[in-house]
Amino acid sequence: MAAKKYIVKKGKVYWPNEEMKKIAWVKSDKIYREASKSPVKFWEKLAKEGIDWEKKWDKAYEEKLPYFKWFKGGKLNFCHNALDRWAKETPNKTALIWIPEPLSERPLKITYMQLYDAVNRFSNVLKAQGIKKGDVVAIYLPMIPESLIAMLACTRIGAIHSVVFSAFSADALRARIEDGEAKILITADGYYRRGKPEDLLHKAKKAAKRTTVKRIIVVSRLGQKIRGRKFLDFGEEIKKADLCYPPATVNSEDVMFILYTSGTTGKPKGIVHDTGGYAVQAYWTTKWNFNLHNDDIIWCTADIGWITGHTYAFYGPLLNGATTLIYEGSPDYPDFGRWWKIIEENHVTVFYTAPTAIRMFRKEGDSWLKKYNLDSLRVLATVGEPIDEEAWLWYLKKVGKERCPLIDTWWQTETGGTLINTLPGIGPFVPTVAGKSFPGTKHIVVDEQGKENKKGESGYLVQVSPFAPGMLHGIYKNHKKYVETYWRFKKYYDTSDGAYLRNGLIRVTGRTDDVMKVAGHRLATAELENAINENKKVNECAVVPIPHEIKGQVPIAFVVLKGGKGSEELEQELKRHVDQKIGPTARPERIFFVSDLPKTRSGKIMRRILKDILKKEEPQGLMTLLNPEAVESIKDVVAGNQ
Ligand code: PRX
Repeated sequence: MAAKKYIVKKGKVYWPNEEMKKIAWVKSDKIYREASKSPVKFWEKLAKEGIDWEKKWDKAYEEKLPYFKWFKGGKLNFCHNALDRWAKETPNKTALIWIPEPLSERPLKITYMQLYDAVNRFSNVLKAQGIKKGDVVAIYLPMIPESLIAMLACTRIGAIHSVVFSAFSADALRARIEDGEAKILITADGYYRRGKPEDLLHKAKKAAKRTTVKRIIVVSRLGQKIRGRKFLDFGEEIKKADLCYPPATVNSEDVMFILYTSGTTGKPKGIVHDTGGYAVQAYWTTKWNFNLHNDDIIWCTADIGWITGHTYAFYGPLLNGATTLIYEGSPDYPDFGRWWKIIEENHVTVFYTAPTAIRMFRKEGDSWLKKYNLDSLRVLATVGEPIDEEAWLWYLKKVGKERCPLIDTWWQTETGGTLINTLPGIGPFVPTVAGKSFPGTKHIVVDEQGKENKKGESGYLVQVSPFAPGMLHGIYKNHKKYVETYWRFKKYYDTSDGAYLRNGLIRVTGRTDDVMKVAGHRLATAELENAINENKKVNECAVVPIPHEIKGQVPIAFVVLKGGKGSEELEQELKRHVDQKIGPTARPERIFFVSDLPKTRSGKIMRRILKDILKKEEPQGLMTLLNPEAVESIKDVVAGNQ
């Protein structure tokens, strides 16, 4: 039987058809108007329906900018909402499907009851280590079930988790441990990537040395024996632990987790998320964006080291009592058919991935897709960076066979959950256009002075009060940075993205600051520059992103040495240094050794000129430069003449 069709093409855009409307939670755009009449009341209603509260809030929304609170006075436990209620209602339903990378290992299905058991036990393991409400626990784990167990156990206790991407270096992990003053580190001996074991434990040990971390709990994924006074074996401890840990009552505004992200300076910022507001936005955005029903199996390919992994690989699906799938390994292992094989074998219905991956698969050709049956898919989605029309159409036509709504979701680490996208039962699905603000939220485009651009001119994308419930509640221990980064327009939250309006829909064009997206990963040019500048031979450097066919953007570094000439060896040495300071995701694509960098008279490096040179465009505004002669010499280096 042919798979059901959920969309129709009208002109150049797609719309949900009757079949989609039949199964959609929301099918009429009246919802936007109704929600905007009183966004706070709207969210209150959603909070009541979606989340179990131990005590109802006294005040739904309180705003004292630059801070605001949701569901003040409300009490709940996040883990109860994501786990206990389903363990009671649907104990035998699969909560998590885990696909290990090696084909020799079998996928693992964990039911809500089994997960409940493991999370209770692990909460007791943490308790035995002295972890209590409000303590910070660092988690440096790959895509394995223990990540979910560890994160949920923190939320059960009311401890704050700080997850660090497993491909980040020891130095990057250390910086995050130190900033959060984490008491415990949970890690693994390693994981599998492209058929080979990758080390984590050595990096973790190095990072935790002489920090606040008193114990390291290690998952033995590669079968190593864990020894030493500072170490505990995750598997052994969980077996010994007590079966019951009652969920702690926390305030809606209590911090649930910190997640570090790049801003425009070299130092990552600890984005603070609360409990109640985050839970409400995670619950409803998952349910409505992906039109999640009882029989859905959602696969969000993001790593748990990023916000997308937090909210849509784990928390949103579990808050809805759904089945979520995670995969340990690389998309091209053992070949480019792996993802499609996973979708076919597990009957994945909702597929959420990044434009980078789509561009990569598109380049590999359609033959990999043709080998697999993808009829189970119902909703497709993307996130993380602007998606180009070709990639969007390829995804819609080749993966979704023009059957499935394709939603382009715009959001950020700071927003906790999605904020701008089309809803699958409402449409339209337009290539490169994210869509409308989620009901109950509002975004506008403003000019430099904060005046609204109503006629579709490009400008700055900002969020308008009342701010969404899942929004950040500050930068960890850094009020000044919080104010500077997000509140330059005073009454609006500044997203740092550029956008414009087309027919009432928002098209996001990308960052307006010195932050780039490399294969969807957020990196600040300053982080890379700091890393390169640490090398003794380097006098100064500038890093700029250039467009890349697959990764969206890649960093290019221009380095001025203290003396001597650049060489292939030195380029490699600097790249290795970036790997060590941040991780291979940040490695510059090229390093050019130049004699000078273009600067203004006040000494500011003009990165815009470097970008023009790389794009082979004639740089403008050279009159304002202190050293215009540098430009010709850089052009020669880039052209390979020097
Ligand atoms: O520039 C926007 C881009 O990703 C940034 C946020 O990055 P991060 O905090 O790592 O979170 C990524 C996943 C939520 C935004 O400021 N971005 C995210 N989604 C989109 C996007 N750009 C265009 N279209 C999107 N759908």
